[in-house]
Amino acid sequence: MKIVVSAGPTRERIDAVRFITNFSSGKMGYAIAGAAATAGHQVVLVSGPVTIAPPPGVDTIRVESAAEMATAIHSSAADADAIIMAAAVADYRPVKQLEHKMKKTDGNLTIELERTEDILKTLGEQKNPDCILVGFAAETDNLMENAIDKQKRKNLDWIVLNDVSRPGIGFGSDQNAVTLISRDGRIIELDSAAKSVIAAKILEYVLV
Ligand code: CTP
Repeated sequence: MKIVVSAGPTRERIDAVRFITNFSSGKMGYAIAGAAATAGHQVVLVSGPVTIAPPPGVDTIRVESAAEMATAIHSSAADADAIIMAAAVADYRPVKQLEHKMKKTDGNLTIELERTEDILKTLGEQKNPDCILVGFAAETDNLMENAIDKQKRKNLDWIVLNDVSRPGIGFGSDQNAVTLISRDGRIIELDSAAKSVIAAKILEYVLV
């Protein structure tokens, strides 16, 4: 199968030296890309800026912003058998991105932000019935309710729910524990384990 995986954060530039980002390490997406390559699939990994090395046997496309990630994903999506969006894509970017370094003044600073494209929502709207679409939901409260709502709004075959308020799992950690929810209402709990183990199990369930 051809599997497209996104991973890591995006960076949205404010000026020549500053940007808005988030705490995503890319480890979960990289583990999924690695597990898919090990299982013999053709893997395209679209990665935001991270400090970890890409897994062997994976075609890695490095991007910075949400807009660049959208372009890379859409250009690889047409013949994909599965798309797994593990990236923590910024929902907003500065309206103006200054070429020079902004100088401080005495007063407060307000930076106006505009929405980025919701890549997964676009993929869901254009859904090819032969392509398995998987999203991630990083939640801190009303976990199931928020994840199922996200799954419906984005027309996903599976959503991977991550409770990011639990210590020791999620952002930056080498361990994770997730709940998989299928379009037809199956709920699969994957208990705390190395991200490589969680990645292989996610693929076992979603790629059938
Ligand atoms: N996603 C995306 N494009 C964006 C934002 C998110 O493709 N601009 C994808 C992520 O890769 C992830 C899923 O959508 O698979 C996360 O859903 P989202 O609704 O963005 O979650 P949150 O950012 O937590 O949003 P909310 O504020 O609605 O909880």
